[in-house]
Amino acid sequence: MAWVEVADAAELDGRDVIGREVEGRRVAVYRLDGALYATQDLCTHGQACLSEGEVVEGYIECPLHYGLFEIATGKAAGAPVTRDLATYPVRVAEGRIWVELDA
Ligand code: FES
Repeated sequence: MAWVEVADAAELDGRDVIGREVEGRRVAVYRLDGALYATQDLCTHGQACLSEGEVVEGYIECPLHYGLFEIATGKAAGAPVTRDLATYPVRVAEGRIWVELDA
């Protein structure tokens, strides 16, 4: 396991989600009611970045076919998606967002 720096925390100001590529992976970081969450950014259904979708009441809606995932758990929650997202621990240190990617 390794913590990797993703973005400046200020990049989430006024936004629900941002997407970044770190360590060769796309990661989406969300701010919901003041708490941070991180998931894989690539949809499990096709080639779409979830960070380009809409956050709706705790869910991220894929911009391509409108599948839904629960942000806090990564659970697939609305057709056509059936496979869950990977989720990652996330923290802020000295104004920077960090996520712990699995090995
Ligand atoms: S690519 Fe995301 S729902 Fe199809």
